[in-house]
Amino acid sequence: MATTKNQSGCWYVEFTVCLIGLLLFPLPSQSSDPDPLQDFCIGDTKSALSVNGFPCKPAANVTSDDFFFDGLSKEGNMSNPFGSSVTSGNVLTFPGLNTLGISMNRVDIGPGGLNPPHSHPRASETGVVINGRILVGFITTGNVFYSKILTPGQMFVIPTGLVHFQMNVGEEKALIFTAFNSHLPGAAVVPTNLFASEPSVPDDVLTKAFQVEKTVIDEIKCKFGA
Ligand code: GLV
Ligand code: MN
Repeated sequence: MATTKNQSGCWYVEFTVCLIGLLLFPLPSQSSDPDPLQDFCIGDTKSALSVNGFPCKPAANVTSDDFFFDGLSKEGNMSNPFGSSVTSGNVLTFPGLNTLGISMNRVDIGPGGLNPPHSHPRASETGVVINGRILVGFITTGNVFYSKILTPGQMFVIPTGLVHFQMNVGEEKALIFTAFNSHLPGAAVVPTNLFASEPSVPDDVLTKAFQVEKTVIDEIKCKFGA
């Protein structure tokens, strides 16, 4: 940074210009989980300590089992109004992922079923279809809708934070494996966020937001047991 005096002795003008430059062009920000500072850090998910992630289990107690997870091997329970199931392989279910900035889900969807519109605040998502015919779609912040019907072996990507869904448009059960650049991507599911929160979002907000009568809001809330 320049601190030399110029002819008029106003070196602070240069300093101010530099400062404004730094403020206008900040360093790139971190858009996914930070890099780990050690080989591994098996999450101690029961620890009372609250940090950004989980504290590491003592290395002396780490075993091979900490690096393997069979939670995605079984079909999820699709007996729910959406006819779908998401099984998470994230740091909460698989603590070996702690600090590594990655995780996966298994998504099972029955014929006609839907993994409802949702977003992941901390990750982009990619996925590969294993079985079935799936309509995958997302909506940008500019309200543009992108979608495609995918079949086994085909992949998709959902940019960070955008609302997206998968719908089974085939005759068979569908299976997708999804992956994220966060050990805990989080999922804000639009219908349940809005209509089944605790405590509930005021009816006035919902009637205004959706431009409908309260009876419509009551009916939707009722469907989600609220
Ligand atoms: C699918 O959208 C998933 O979040 O696993
Ligand atoms: Mn998703």
